[in-house]
Amino acid sequence: MYPLGLLPLLQAWIPDYAAVKLSIALPGIILLALLWSLAENQEEDDTTPTALPLSGLSTIWPFFKSRFDFLARGFQLTGRSIFQFNLLQNTVVVVSGESGRNDFFSCRGLDINEGFKVLSGAIPMLPGITSDLQARRIALIHKRLAAAQNSDRLTRLLPQILGDAERVICSWGYPGTIDPFSHMPALLFQTTVRSLSCHEIADDAALVARLRKLYDRLDSSTTPASVLLPWFPSPSMLSKLYASKQVYDIVNGAINARVQSGVSRDDTLQMLVDHGDDKLVIVGFIMGLLVAGARSTGTTASWMTTCLGGHPEWKHKARAEVRALLSDCSAGNVASSSLKEQLAAIPLEAWEDHTPVLDKIIRETLRLAQPHTAMRRNVGPETYINGMRIPSGAYVVYPFSDVHLNSTLYPDPWRFDPDRSDRVAPYEYVGWGGGKTVCLGQRLAKLQLKLIAAMLLLKFDFILVDVNGRTPNPLPRPNWNDTLTCKPPIGSCYLQFQSISEGKIEKDGP
Ligand code: HEM
Ligand SMILES: *[C@@H]1O[C@H](CO)[C@@H](O)[C@H](O)[C@H]1NC(C)=O
Ligand SMILES: *[C@@H]1O[C@H](CO)[C@@H](O)[C@H](O)[C@H]1NC(C)=O
Repeated sequence: MYPLGLLPLLQAWIPDYAAVKLSIALPGIILLALLWSLAENQEEDDTTPTALPLSGLSTIWPFFKSRFDFLARGFQLTGRSIFQFNLLQNTVVVVSGESGRNDFFSCRGLDINEGFKVLSGAIPMLPGITSDLQARRIALIHKRLAAAQNSDRLTRLLPQILGDAERVICSWGYPGTIDPFSHMPALLFQTTVRSLSCHEIADDAALVARLRKLYDRLDSSTTPASVLLPWFPSPSMLSKLYASKQVYDIVNGAINARVQSGVSRDDTLQMLVDHGDDKLVIVGFIMGLLVAGARSTGTTASWMTTCLGGHPEWKHKARAEVRALLSDCSAGNVASSSLKEQLAAIPLEAWEDHTPVLDKIIRETLRLAQPHTAMRRNVGPETYINGMRIPSGAYVVYPFSDVHLNSTLYPDPWRFDPDRSDRVAPYEYVGWGGGKTVCLGQRLAKLQLKLIAAMLLLKFDFILVDVNGRTPNPLPRPNWNDTLTCKPPIGSCYLQFQSISEGKIEKDGP
């Protein structure tokens, strides 16, 4: 299993057809479900979290397939804010509520990498390569990730990301219609490859497409069985091994070519090579962070554009903000330059610190459409969460829905409203994590989202439509049971684009 604790990998559970395979393989699930009410609660003292009267296969299926419903059912069945269940031989404690959340995020013994190892499995796992990255290498990868996002690197990346964005967006053809849940992730995959690997791969559209397919295959060959019985050579496990080998070959080939050429280029691969890191660190960095970065930025970009398309008032505010940036930086005055060049003339600092509207939009998108469940393992001694005992070695999970969809904290929680007042109490907003585990790719992720939003807003006007070309009513709602993308039903919404003539950016009104 892949030990880097990366959110999107945590999110990368099984897609529909893997579940179908499983349902054929495990018809007993339904029967076991019928036995729920017959099972007896474990007898323990009152600091032991109440056990869900379920075990064996009956927990695996719903935990992976419709996690939101499963956890909600667990809280309901036990009547507690903390309960536990077994995933095969593992005890998993599910935490919710204000003090549970505070203890979860501040508890020192809880480890993301260990939690992740057993409870996920969508990652390139090539024995001896990505599976053996021990703590020291992970720490080094995190350090390099910080270097890959320093102001100097990001300043040089900025025009490159815009260049990719412009090229991909133009390839969509317009006026036209796109599916935000497939086109946006493809775009973000491209810009992530650009940001975290090397030009040789990023410049080769066919290779990028192949890489993306391989990562998709890794997701789809992740079944509950492959996660929990990683040693079992099921067809899905073999397919996964094969796909990860191919990803490895691509990355490894690029590293070797660079080292042998002796030619230095301005990209992240060069930075890694120049540090003289060992091969495992470089491969681990690229293989792991590519998918980490692309999955979560892709999902966020899909929902950000969907929400903007469905809320024209926010689209207009965001567009006005980017136009104001252009004129402040007098970037818009270079009449002959392309949109890409104009946007690239806006300094990094302005993108990061002077875009309050885009900041609010990203923040609200993450609250509403990041169906994450944080996973940890207690690698320390026995500890307590909200008075409940967490034995050493137990797994602990915290679903973000507990805080982000709480209607006391966020009234009418399914409504997209970037103007919600900021929650100030600790952990009342955890869109980028909390406590000792926060997103280490945040700076790059935000920059990519802003650049892409700006490019779309200035190049096009776009609206959200359904299959009949009408505004969807109600607007699509993120499906939190889909722990990877929380996509609405396929075909329920599209973005319809119309060009705003390039270069001549209107100064007033949309
Ligand atoms: C919109 C995009 C992104 C969002 C919403 C996001 C969100 C998060 C969250 C919530 C966590 C904490 C997970 C937990 O507590 O279980 C996390 C961790 C992490 N993220 Fe991100 N992330 C994004 C993009 C990225 C990118 C682009 C990278 C890499 C370039 C990245 C690298 C990481 C890493 C390395 C960690 C683990 C930190 C640790 O082990 O302590 N993320 N992210
Ligand atoms: C929502 O949050 C409030 C304030 O923290 C808390 O009192 C309440 O129990 C939470 N509601 C649910 C359903 O968790
Ligand atoms: C979870 O999926 C069920 C259908 O299985 C759906 O009715 C429910 O609304 C979903 N929950 C969320 C929060 O998306």
